[in-house]
Amino acid sequence: MGQRVIEMENLTKIFGEKLIAVNNLNFAVEEGAIFGFLGPNGAGKTTAIRLLLGLIRPTAGEVKVFGEKMTPGSSSLRRRMGYLPTNPRFPPKMTPIKYLDFVGILFRLGREERVKRLSTLIRSVGLLGDSSREIAGFSTGMVTRLGLAAALMNDPELLILDEPTSGLDPNGRMSTLELIAELGKEKTIFVSSHILSDIDRICTDVGVLSEGKGIFSGSIKDMKKRTRSHVVRLELEGDVRKFCEALKPAKWVVGFETRGDYGVDITFASELPMADAVREATDLASRQGLDLISVSSSTSSIEDAFMELLRDEESRGFLRAT
Ligand SMILES: Nc1ncnc2c1ncn2[C@@H]1O[C@H](COP(=O)(O)OP(=O)(O)O)[C@@H](O)[C@H]1O
Ligand SMILES: [Mg+2]
Repeated sequence: MGQRVIEMENLTKIFGEKLIAVNNLNFAVEEGAIFGFLGPNGAGKTTAIRLLLGLIRPTAGEVKVFGEKMTPGSSSLRRRMGYLPTNPRFPPKMTPIKYLDFVGILFRLGREERVKRLSTLIRSVGLLGDSSREIAGFSTGMVTRLGLAAALMNDPELLILDEPTSGLDPNGRMSTLELIAELGKEKTIFVSSHILSDIDRICTDVGVLSEGKGIFSGSIKDMKKRTRSHVVRLELEGDVRKFCEALKPAKWVVGFETRGDYGVDITFASELPMADAVREATDLASRQGLDLISVSSSTSSIEDAFMELLRDEESRGFLRAT
């Protein structure tokens, strides 16, 4: 287990005494991770990121970065972080060389160091051919790459990227994701997106946000396992243990768990439609001579929200009225 670079502890932000933008988050990010922060528009991603950077104060709870509490006064912590906001804007009359040099001055880097860093960065984000062009004529993809270079000028250990693929065409999206994956070999990255496939492509870990609440945190693999299944809860009268033995070899069963003396939660592979899963389970129960007391789906509303989030992948993103 690596060291924890980010730790949210009951992190909460309420706007105007009413709108709970971030609701009791407890995500942690380990050193070296590429952590995907996934949630639909309006879920609270940007608010959580602003808390993470100490740009705003939490209403309750706290966030620790490098083991220290982040506050608006934590400039020494912020110096170890790089930040790319959603749809960044840069002075249109400047060139990438001028702008990155300016960023370097803000970080109080000496001239030699600035020149060294900006030339390396311009090359690694693929802007070499455009390094002396005015930013005004840049595509969204180029602006994003310049933003990444700017976020890297202080050679941060932790990179915070807020929807870096926002507004990009498929090619721009791919090249940006590749660049982030490459950067992830050397740095801890916290990257937000409302697009599951982006996160899936590059992240090692994921935290899912829905209406300000954390609804999942773990590996991408575990997240997928959960999306690939649904759970049916049966209450049975008879030999539940025998029934469970009969469940073991069934190929549509991913797993099961007993609930008290009569209950069994059965997790089914998602290839099997819910109605068929219920029928398979009840048929098996009657073949084993058990009487059915009740059948229900044990998915909670939080899990429903999660499933809803993930189902939307086809439509290239999550849309939720805000
Ligand atoms: N400064 C603010 N004042 C009031 N409400 C805000 C403010 N910033 C964000 N919100 C609200 O908080 C919610 C979460 O927004 P945001 O963090 O931007 O979500 P996301 O980045 O996931 O789209 C939204 O309902 C938004 O309108
Ligand atoms: Mg946002």
